[in-house]
Amino acid sequence: MITINDFKNNKGVKKMVQITAYDYTSATIADAAGVDSILVGDSLGMTMLGYPNTLAVTVDDMIHHGAAVVRGAKNCLVVVDMPFMSYQVSDEEALRNAGRIMKETGCQAVKLEGGKKYASRIKAITDAGIPVVGHVGLTPQSVNSFGGFKLQAKTKESAKELIKDCLALEEAGCFAITLECVPENLAAYITKLLSIPTIGIGASKECDAQVLVWQDALGFNLGHTAKFVRRFADANEYLTNGIKSYIESVHDKRYPSENETYKTGADEVEAAIEEFIKENK
Ligand code: KIV
Repeated sequence: MITINDFKNNKGVKKMVQITAYDYTSATIADAAGVDSILVGDSLGMTMLGYPNTLAVTVDDMIHHGAAVVRGAKNCLVVVDMPFMSYQVSDEEALRNAGRIMKETGCQAVKLEGGKKYASRIKAITDAGIPVVGHVGLTPQSVNSFGGFKLQAKTKESAKELIKDCLALEEAGCFAITLECVPENLAAYITKLLSIPTIGIGASKECDAQVLVWQDALGFNLGHTAKFVRRFADANEYLTNGIKSYIESVHDKRYPSENETYKTGADEVEAAIEEFIKENK
């Protein structure tokens, strides 16, 4: 079982891999394939629930999907996102919601978005013994403030702020920080500066770990994807072909075949039908 200590100790030793997953079956696949960590991201708002962004996702949604993933992940570290407005109001509310997510999913850590202004939230949660991953750069819960999904920290001022944010998150107790959509040299500098691992998404190979969204990495999404996305499989084509083949086989009466049909008890059934017909004449 991979722990947060393994994750921290791998910094500078081996690159780590995280992928999102939102259900039991996907978790068993990712886990058996050997990922270090699964993130039950609030991206499930888009990928599983069909919302335009992550803002409508609730703590109950995260618990429902997080618990399913934990049941499937036998070896890797499972991190569950804290959704929008589950930690923004106060340290107390953040701790209560982080506690619910941990208790009701069985995951090993939570992740929340934001820089130094959330340091007190992180401290309150980590002081209660709950490991936290920070998340800075493009933080999708703030998509409306950013005016879209865009590269962050590309000006001198904002790059300096991001460095300060990362230091504050480390100081507050995060055991890792997700860096999303930031320039390569900034990711490289932050990764060297911190003693905890960075997990990059659109933040170059300089990070200690990489994370990708399941649907992006495996080719479920046919539409536009961000510059940093690589499709490592073409699940959409593969699954579409499978479903088409199923439809054709039913239409052509090739499915179910003799081998896929139960014949045992045929004599008893014949007798039952005969008796039924007699009794109902
Ligand atoms: O919700 C999510 O999937 C995430 C990743 C993009 C890092 O936060």
